[in-house]
Amino acid sequence: MSDEKNIIKEVIDIGLSEMKDMSEVSDACGQFRQLLLEQLSRETQMEQDERPPKDFSKLETVTIGVCPGDGIGTIISKEAERVLRHLLADELDSGDVVIKDIEGLTIENRLEKQQAVPDDVLAEIKTCDVLLKGPTTTPKGGTMESANVALRRELDLYANVRPVSIPDQGIDWTFFRENTEGEYVLGSKGIEIPGKLSMNFKVTTECGTRRIARAAFEYAKANGKTNVAIVTKANIMKQTDGNFSRICHEVASDYPGITAEDWYIDIMTANLLKEERRADFQVFVLPNLYGDIITDEAAQIQGGVGTAGSSNMGDHYAMFEAIHGSADRMISEGRGQYANPASIIKAAAMLLRHIGRIDKAQKLEDALTECVENEKKVVITGHEDGATAEEFTDYLISKL
Ligand code: IPM
Ligand code: MG
Repeated sequence: MSDEKNIIKEVIDIGLSEMKDMSEVSDACGQFRQLLLEQLSRETQMEQDERPPKDFSKLETVTIGVCPGDGIGTIISKEAERVLRHLLADELDSGDVVIKDIEGLTIENRLEKQQAVPDDVLAEIKTCDVLLKGPTTTPKGGTMESANVALRRELDLYANVRPVSIPDQGIDWTFFRENTEGEYVLGSKGIEIPGKLSMNFKVTTECGTRRIARAAFEYAKANGKTNVAIVTKANIMKQTDGNFSRICHEVASDYPGITAEDWYIDIMTANLLKEERRADFQVFVLPNLYGDIITDEAAQIQGGVGTAGSSNMGDHYAMFEAIHGSADRMISEGRGQYANPASIIKAAAMLLRHIGRIDKAQKLEDALTECVENEKKVVITGHEDGATAEEFTDYLISKL
């Protein structure tokens, strides 16, 4: 008997024969075949893409799109935009920089159009070089994809770079989270046999891994870092994480002065809490979901998710955002105006750095450190006893 017949017999023997003549299984196999073909095609397109990367620091005119998002997003992104407009005032006047306010990336519009990023909004975003994006709400369950995931895919923002630094503890970490595949790429396209089981898929491609590894090692080399931690769970996820690790090591062989170390994600989450060990880590490269989780942990160690910025880098576009979500609860509790804009303002500084406005980025980062860590005159608590996002930003701008 063939393997398939054996399996079918087993399924019937253990009393699962009510599965509508196996038609659900055939449908699921058809769906899986389709997903596999789509992913192969995505990999091939990546391999064949020969367009030279854009040099964001040498653009004649830089177009910055601002998408406010949902929940506290509208409140904090308004403040970040105000900071950008202040720092870039001369260049906005001369037309070297253009800021476009992009509407329609809201949960209401996305639900109405039944699109994670409505077509007209995406078209508008694609007229920009870089994007400052407020957090967007992601519905739990259902099939509506997260706007973040869709934007990362549509703009091919493959490197989620998240720095965390605590100078007085010697911590200077930079996370290179793979941002377009892993557990996310098919996260809304899993398979379900209702009442029986559900399956999601994780995808690791050669090209997708090679390019994030290259980004991490290039960063290490350019910044005098000597160690890159490759963080996986390759002992369990043998194919996807096994290949992720192998490819990272292949890339590492082009960087002789840099040590590439394998770590498992579980012990790495513990090590980040180990004070005598954690300052030794410098650069991390890791698959999407582990990167998502550990960067929240790292941000918390730095002082909270409100303190960390996040950049989503691609060869043709880049998107900068707060590391946290839309905090809808703050809105429903009437506390929206007390939301902390520091994370998205930090992201705005990263944006400035990416478009080559290094001095302005530095000025903004210094002012943030001054306001948040040193002076602490205007403090955000998230509640009425603290400052509003607007008051904090007024204070920050007075320091610029
Ligand atoms: C992040 C967020 C997103 C993610 C959500 C909003 C989809 O948590 O940027 O880390 O999971 O990537
Ligand atoms: Mg996250």
